[in-house]
Amino acid sequence: MELGLKGKVVLVTGASRGIGRAIALAFSGEGCRLALASRTEEALAAVSKEAEALGAEARHWITDVTDPNQVESLVGNVSRVLGGIDVLVNNAGGSSRKAFEAVSDDEWERIVNLNLFSAIRLSRAVLPHMKERGGGQIINIAALSGRVPRLGQIASNAAKAALINFTESLAAEVARHGIRVNAVCPAAILTERWQEKVAHYGKEHGLPFEQAVMELAGKSIPLGRFGLPEEVASAVVFLASERAGFITGVSIFVDGGMGRSVSIP
Ligand SMILES: NC(=O)c1ccc[n+]([C@@H]2O[C@H](COP(=O)([O-])OP(=O)(O)OC[C@H]3O[C@@H](n4cnc5c(N)ncnc54)[C@H](OP(=O)(O)O)[C@@H]3O)[C@@H](O)[C@H]2O)c1
Repeated sequence: MELGLKGKVVLVTGASRGIGRAIALAFSGEGCRLALASRTEEALAAVSKEAEALGAEARHWITDVTDPNQVESLVGNVSRVLGGIDVLVNNAGGSSRKAFEAVSDDEWERIVNLNLFSAIRLSRAVLPHMKERGGGQIINIAALSGRVPRLGQIASNAAKAALINFTESLAAEVARHGIRVNAVCPAAILTERWQEKVAHYGKEHGLPFEQAVMELAGKSIPLGRFGLPEEVASAVVFLASERAGFITGVSIFVDGGMGRSVSIP
């Protein structure tokens, strides 16, 4: 299927591993020109190389998306070097597992900055470039936990809920400029983060990794398995494509059905 993405400039944050890396590589396969950002030079350079091996032009910029000055210079540099920005994917994010009373103000600020303010600042910075080009796409990587809270990670639940609402609000505001804003909400995607959790579960229950994966998935994911980063990337590429030209302000849940069911033992 022709997606109409060839030659588009795509900025992906948190591109050094996990879902962000898969998103970068999926856009590479569509012939996009990539701008990759995260804080780790070595990992980011490796993903750039992988993208280039797939035929894409790829540049990377070491950026902490929680720093407003670094966000400003990232967008300025990408636009200057690659000649504009067509697609922004706000993927950098994360959670911390703590009970409400253990979350300090500093921790709330850190999590809200990482998951929400980074997307707000990046969106604000790219909008003039997109308006100049007569359109563009912003895709925010939120989470199922932004709609259905996950116990023990209250700060990121609240930040992702705000990110979903921000997506809907901004979509309405910028639609007349031909700019579409959507969210993709993953859950249980087997990135490094989940691999650590599975390994911990396996240790606790005396299970080898593969068995721990199957037991955990069987217990709580309707499709009976964890998701792959590539499956999140497919939804992102679709939303960025011409094929999704009449879709804005939506959230696509890539969650194996977890958001649509209650598991009662
Ligand atoms: N995996 C899941 O099941 C799942 C579920 C729900 C939502 N999500 C969301 O999906 C997104 C990606 O998740 P993931 O599992 O791939 O996470 P991950 O493996 O922890 O990767 C996070 C990425 O974000 C980057 N990053 C973190 N802090 C940053 C900062 N301050 N500035 C710039 N980059 C930063 C990291 O790179 P550096 O360390 O190099 O900076 C890394 O590339 C996140 O927004 C997450 O909340 C994932």
